[in-house]
Amino acid sequence: MIKQQLERFNRLELLGGATALEKLERLSAWLGRDIYVKRDDTTPLAMGGNKLRKLEYLAADAIAQGADTLITAGAIQSNHVRQTAALAAKLGLGCVALLENPTGTEDPNYLANGNRLLLELFDAKVELVENLDNADAQLAALADRLRSNGKKPYLVPIGGSNALGALGYVRAGLELAAQIEDSAIEFAAVVLASGSAGTHSGLALALSEALPQLPVIGVTVSRTEQAQLPKVQSLAERTAELLGVAIPEAFKVTLWDEYFGPRYGEPNAGTLSAIKLLASQEGLLLDPVYTGKAMAGLLDGIGRQRFEEGPIIFLHTGGAPALFAYDSVFN
Ligand SMILES: Cc1ncc(COP(=O)(O)O)c(C=O)c1O
Repeated sequence: MIKQQLERFNRLELLGGATALEKLERLSAWLGRDIYVKRDDTTPLAMGGNKLRKLEYLAADAIAQGADTLITAGAIQSNHVRQTAALAAKLGLGCVALLENPTGTEDPNYLANGNRLLLELFDAKVELVENLDNADAQLAALADRLRSNGKKPYLVPIGGSNALGALGYVRAGLELAAQIEDSAIEFAAVVLASGSAGTHSGLALALSEALPQLPVIGVTVSRTEQAQLPKVQSLAERTAELLGVAIPEAFKVTLWDEYFGPRYGEPNAGTLSAIKLLASQEGLLLDPVYTGKAMAGLLDGIGRQRFEEGPIIFLHTGGAPALFAYDSVFN
């Protein structure tokens, strides 16, 4: 049902096929528990990551509307802004981004290296703002300003997380369900980072229809469960509405919020050891803001027996370019 409805939406075909679902052999042996990774860190634009899936739908809409500029917002080290700027460059569109410094750091690598460096290469225009507390209104004001200068801006929300963007992860959920069915493995859960919520909402929506027994666990990167749950739930509802389907009965928002401290954009000791473990055991790069925290949750969840029996899937949503902005935390 969801699959047929999804076909109706216009999409730029940028992914070029399914991302791999692969077993982490050495980590699995070391943990005594099989861990698989869905490699959305390898999507094929500008160092990869989850946002390309959302942008397949959002940029198709921008082009259909005759836009000439993509506008969006995020942290100085936002992976979302990096992927949006790269896609704007690829499509011959302009890109303007509002950026905030969420931790107030003055670390020169945070301010100029990593994702921020790449924005320069993509020719994105950057405006630094005090904060993004009213991001939708701030982006609407930017759009008005650009319109009065004769531009045709298209507003991509923070994280690409509106119902249209979440369709990218509905599609990813169907893709993953097919890979799971092909593998004939009974997985215990899928674990992912839950931030602006489009990834979590879309994936959980699709999997609740395709594989209703499979728990989807979002590890929060910026909020308590109480604050994050309504965001994921309401975006899933709006996405289902856009698709014209009912929310499947099995749909459930599960959040672990013990791993995001001290706050968004600041890694803790568990984050750093998860990054080091995956790099040294598997040559796999996680990031200090999202996937490092989600993997710390997965590892701790195994230790505390929070999962049912069976192998676990980690959705790797990318983010490694930020490592070059966070070198000081590893030294
Ligand atoms: C590497 C990475 N993982 C996970 C996420 C979270 O995805 P979402 O914002 O859809 O919750 C982001 C969002 O920016 C990200 O950059």
